[in-house]
Amino acid sequence: MRRLVIAGNWKMNKTPSETKAFLEALKPVVAGKDNCDIVCCVPATNLAIAVETAKGSNIKIGAQNVHFAKSGAYTGETSADMLVDLGVEYVIIGHSERRQYFAETDETVNARVKAALEAGLKVILCVGELEKERDQGITAEILGKQTKVDLLDVTAEQMKNVIIAYEPVWAIGTGKTATNEQADEACGVVRAVVAELYGKRVADETIVQYGGSMNAKNCADLLKCENVDGGLIGGASLKTEDFGIIVDAAQ
Ligand code: PGA
Repeated sequence: MRRLVIAGNWKMNKTPSETKAFLEALKPVVAGKDNCDIVCCVPATNLAIAVETAKGSNIKIGAQNVHFAKSGAYTGETSADMLVDLGVEYVIIGHSERRQYFAETDETVNARVKAALEAGLKVILCVGELEKERDQGITAEILGKQTKVDLLDVTAEQMKNVIIAYEPVWAIGTGKTATNEQADEACGVVRAVVAELYGKRVADETIVQYGGSMNAKNCADLLKCENVDGGLIGGASLKTEDFGIIVDAAQ
């Protein structure tokens, strides 16, 4: 019932020229693979060339962050309207690296989510527990708090444009993937929180991805989990072959 979404998070990798070459190479690899949505979230400098290169293909382009203000004195930031005007369709918000290195909080994540939705962007909202939180047995509480605060004042109607990526922080870029059971259970917890906030119908329709060292080898099993509706992929999204295998697994 839910459509899978396979999204690459390139992080701070590839120049604009490398972006063009990569997407040119990726287009034939994923052509006709229409049983999932395919998104590449590229660095801000590469958005224009990415949108241009992906035109006419089944690859959608996303940004990795957006500011919460419409415009103004926010040196170095990018507004939602700027992204929309470029033809960008998606934006990742609240990635753990932004929370860890750029002082992102649930409150600023919430403000960014609202600004992005109001401008018409689709949001990939990242939530996930730290290793010590999992060890303490408080994963569900952490996911509940993040999901609730990050989605404060987001309407049920707007939830159509929200994807939630469950990304256990200990699994990101570490090669330590969550087991299928852990991924399925945590994505189920996120879905239950969405049900609590918006009711069962919205929860049943909300796409909940898994992210954290998903790769060409483990993707097929992870994507089979009932509550896992796709992946947010870092390292493995930087190679056309690996990303292509993950898209294939989502068919
Ligand atoms: P990874 O990154 O696949 O390299 O672990 C995932 C992410 O940060 O979204």
